[in-house]
Amino acid sequence: MELPELVKILIEEHRNVRVLLLKIHHLISEGRDKEVAEALKDFKPYLDQHIIDEEATILKILLEAYGRQGAENAIKVFQQHREVHQLITELTRAESPEELRDKRERLRQILESHFAAEESGIFPWALETYRRVRRE
Ligand SMILES: [Fe+2]
Ligand SMILES: [Fe+2]
Repeated sequence: MELPELVKILIEEHRNVRVLLLKIHHLISEGRDKEVAEALKDFKPYLDQHIIDEEATILKILLEAYGRQGAENAIKVFQQHREVHQLITELTRAESPEELRDKRERLRQILESHFAAEESGIFPWALETYRRVRRE
């Protein structure tokens, strides 16, 4: 798959993740525990795969073009993936509605700034690099 097409898919996945998080929020508020557990079961592999795709494509092209030092900004943004993984694991293991609410809200906040950094900084940079490298 070409990079521009992949970036479109990644942005679409950000949208789907936001929708899913909102759905989980409503389920938690309504005390629908079983459905919360089910939604989380789908959510984790979906986000895991998203992160794998980003690191295998976006991060790769920037590392190849600029090296670890030159691509430092992208590395920093992608280091947030660890925290995201950690929070989802905690979310799936939360034992009370308060803990669920708290973890979900933290995950939402982290993802909001993470997605913004990717969509306004890292993705455009990767696309620009991709187009330049192809011309050379
Ligand atoms: Fe990401
Ligand atoms: Fe992303």
